[in-house]
Amino acid sequence: MNTVISSKIVYAGIGFLLTLISGVALSKAGRPLNSAIFTVHKLVAVGTIILIGVNIRNLYQSVNIQALYPVLITVTGLLFLVLVVSGALLSFDKLVIPATLRIHQIGLLLALAFSTLSIYLLVSSKS
Ligand code: HEM
Repeated sequence: MNTVISSKIVYAGIGFLLTLISGVALSKAGRPLNSAIFTVHKLVAVGTIILIGVNIRNLYQSVNIQALYPVLITVTGLLFLVLVVSGALLSFDKLVIPATLRIHQIGLLLALAFSTLSIYLLVSSKS
């Protein structure tokens, strides 16, 4: 694996960690949401999602395509979509759907698992 790709994966990992930390800080700060922490959380989250997407695309283009990858990558993309939509719903003053926070929490664990698995499998089939 070349150094440029590996450092981009490290940046994505750091971004995910910062998103988790800012999300927990946001929840702990209570409601109404602290707009500064919310802005940081939102921007770091979107940046991280883009970085993970770029990593997966670069790796996908450089390996022999196997049937499993498109499924894994689609599920990963859908999970990040769930995070963005549930995050947007959470940003309203009143919760429209009571389970939204639970969906955001489960979604982030699954997104972490699926994106890590996708990157891991793509990296191992590359080397
Ligand atoms: C990679 C994507 C994301 C991750 C990993 C993530 C992670 C988290 C975490 C760990 C929390 C704290 C949950 C808890 O209290 O247990 C949280 C809360 C929150 N997130 Fe995210 N998030 C992501 C994307 C987003 C996006 C894109 C938005 C906005 C559009 C958003 C909006 C929120 C809001 C408003 C809360 C506070 C919920 C509350 O306490 O009422 N998140 N997030």
